[in-house]
Amino acid sequence: MSLSSICYLNGSYQPLDQAKVSVLDRGFIFGDGVYEVIPAYAGHLFRLQQHLQRLDNSLKAIKLANPLSNSEWQNMLQQLVEKNQDQNNGDQSIYLQLTRGVAKRDHSFPENTPATVFAMSNPLLAADMEKIQTGISAITLDDIRWRYCNVKTIALLPNILLKQEATEKHASEAILVREGQVSEGSASNLFIVSKGVIKTPAKSEQLLPGVTRDLIVELAQKNGLACEETSISEAELLSADEVWLSSSTKEIIPVTRLNEKTIGTGTAGPLWQKMITIYQAYKQQLRTGAET
Ligand code: PDD
Repeated sequence: MSLSSICYLNGSYQPLDQAKVSVLDRGFIFGDGVYEVIPAYAGHLFRLQQHLQRLDNSLKAIKLANPLSNSEWQNMLQQLVEKNQDQNNGDQSIYLQLTRGVAKRDHSFPENTPATVFAMSNPLLAADMEKIQTGISAITLDDIRWRYCNVKTIALLPNILLKQEATEKHASEAILVREGQVSEGSASNLFIVSKGVIKTPAKSEQLLPGVTRDLIVELAQKNGLACEETSISEAELLSADEVWLSSSTKEIIPVTRLNEKTIGTGTAGPLWQKMITIYQAYKQQLRTGAET
């Protein structure tokens, strides 16, 4: 993150190191807000309509009125990307957050209080394709989060604690398990490959409907790869031929060690290789403006 990048706060663009929010903001006091992370490849926002739809779903779930129309969001985000394009000179990751605004501390919703709207840009570094082949390690952990994991809330303390536990156990990500079923990672969605079939947990309140996840499912179907959205047990995960994690910023990462055991041959598997090639081709189209 560069502190001299340009951010957006409540209607104006300003240097990030000068942007200020009140200590009474309900995001600070209660974690009362929602967010999105949207990549921009060569200035083109990735799957913007899908991100705006998920933002709207999150806002509805927390009963916060959406202050902008989709074209206003698009306009604001596009301007932010353009203002940061020279500095980042490549790909960007746009972080967008809305909170229930500034009010006297009270659990009840405040009346007539405008939402705080904030967005910033961080450089999005391309993955080192050679390094990524070796994969990452993950551990399974009990999913300690709340009932509405489909809502992209800024209240991420459980996710942070889970990720920290993974870090302390020398793993890069925690894969979450609830009553014997796997849902997702602490900040990513989950895929497995079993007997040639790509599988990902079906959407439910137990996981975030990832924009990257949906794109992977769509690209698998378009390219004739067998792909199922279904329930996945912990036992199935542990015996999978391949395990992948997906997110806007990490794209698709192979997991090659799980609970200190090797998955498959210990390097990225053949279906990951196919999918990442298809995904990179999609991104290349996006860069030229041919895809959204
Ligand atoms: N997180 N599940 C969780 C819990 C996440 O936090 C994320 C992404 C995803 C993947 O969603 P998407 O493909 O739309 O990025 C799944 C973002 C990147 C973050 O918190 O930084």
